[in-house]
Amino acid sequence: MRTQVAIIGGGPAGLLLSHLLHRRGIDSVVLESRDRAYVEHRQRAGMLEQGTTDVLRESGAGERLDREGLVHHGLELRFGGTGHRIPLTDLTGRTVTVYAQTEIVKDLVALRLADGGDVRFEAEVLGIDASAPSVTYRHNGRTHTLDCDFIAGCDGFHGVGRSAVPGLRTFSREYPFAWLGILADVPPSTDELIYANHGRGFALHSLRSPKVSRLYLQVSPKEDLASWPDSRIWDELAARFATDDSWELRQGPITDRSITPMRSFVAEPMRHDRLFLAGDAAHIVPPTGAKGLNLAVSDVIILARALTERYASGSQTLLDAYSATCLRRAWRAEHFSYWMTTLLHVDPSADEFGHRLQRSQLDYVASSKAAATSLAENYVGLPLD
Ligand code: PHB
Repeated sequence: MRTQVAIIGGGPAGLLLSHLLHRRGIDSVVLESRDRAYVEHRQRAGMLEQGTTDVLRESGAGERLDREGLVHHGLELRFGGTGHRIPLTDLTGRTVTVYAQTEIVKDLVALRLADGGDVRFEAEVLGIDASAPSVTYRHNGRTHTLDCDFIAGCDGFHGVGRSAVPGLRTFSREYPFAWLGILADVPPSTDELIYANHGRGFALHSLRSPKVSRLYLQVSPKEDLASWPDSRIWDELAARFATDDSWELRQGPITDRSITPMRSFVAEPMRHDRLFLAGDAAHIVPPTGAKGLNLAVSDVIILARALTERYASGSQTLLDAYSATCLRRAWRAEHFSYWMTTLLHVDPSADEFGHRLQRSQLDYVASSKAAATSLAENYVGLPLD
C-alpha cells in the first residue's frame, strides 16, 4: 500500500493536514491508534485564534464553526476582588472564537470521510522508517506497511513519532500545579473568559455554548479527583472568582471532569529526513495562554504549504525551512504560555517577594495599554509570516 503523505495521529493536527493536502490534490492516509468515538469525545481546550478560524473557514471546514462558534472581543483578568477587562479587539483588531477542539475533530473526521479520505482508526503504529520512507502499523490484527513520500508525526506528546528523530534535543519545565477541569450544564456566568488570580489558586471561567460552562481550578499535580465532590468544586470556584460587587457564579450539574498536569516542552529539530513532527508531538504548552491547538494548526499550515510547493515545483526550500519556521513560532508561544501561567497561578514555593512581584505585574497589565497590548497580541495570535 502506498500514499503520498502518511499521517500518524488523527487529532486536529493530523486531520487538518490531511484535509488541506486533499484540497491541493495530495493524497494521504491518517493512522489513528484510538477509535473514532474516543477522538471525538475527549475534552480539550476550545479557544481559537483568528488565524485558526480563518484557515478552517477558507478550507471549507468552518460551516458549523460559523454557526456555533462564539466570537469574543475581550477577556477579563480578575484579582484582588476586581475584574479588569483586556479589550483584545480594540488593542489588536483581531477576535478569538470559542469552539471546542473536540467539535473541530468531529467536523474534520466527517469532512475527510465525505471527501473519500482514508482515516484508519485503531491503527497502532509499530515502526517508522524516515528515509525509506514507510510506516508499519497494526490494524484489525494484521501488520501492514504503508510506503509514502513523506511522514507527518501528528501523534501527540505520548506518540511514537518523536522517537524516530535521532539526536533530538528536548527542553522542558514542569509546574507545581495541575488543572481540574469541569464541563457543567449551566449557562455561563460571564460573556467573556475570566482568568482569576486568587490567594487560594488560579481559576478560569470559560464556556462552550449559551447553556454549557467550562471551568478550571488550579490544584496540586498529586490531587485525586475522588476528593473533589461537586460541592467542593463549586465552593472553591465561587471563592476564587468572588468579587467585591454582586457578581455570582451559577452552578449546575457537572457532566465531565478531569485533572491535567501542566508542562512546557519543546523538541528540536522538528524534522528528520522525510519525517516532520507537528503539534504536541513536538511541543507542549501549559493551557493558560490557550495556545496548544493554535500552535498545532500553524505547524500544519506551514507543513501543507511546504509539501504543496515540493509537489508543484520540486523545490525543497520550504520543507528545509520547516523546523526553524515552526520552532520560532513555538518558542514565542512557549514564552507567552509560561508568562501567563506564572502571572496567574499561585506558586506554592513563592515567598512574599514573589507574591508582590506577581501582583505588581498584574496591576501593570491591567493599567498600562502597552502591557495589555503585549498580552492581547500574543493571545489573539501573532501573524504566521
Ligand atoms: C477552554 O475553554 O477550554 C480554555 C479556554 C482558554 C484557556 C484554556 C482553556 O486558556
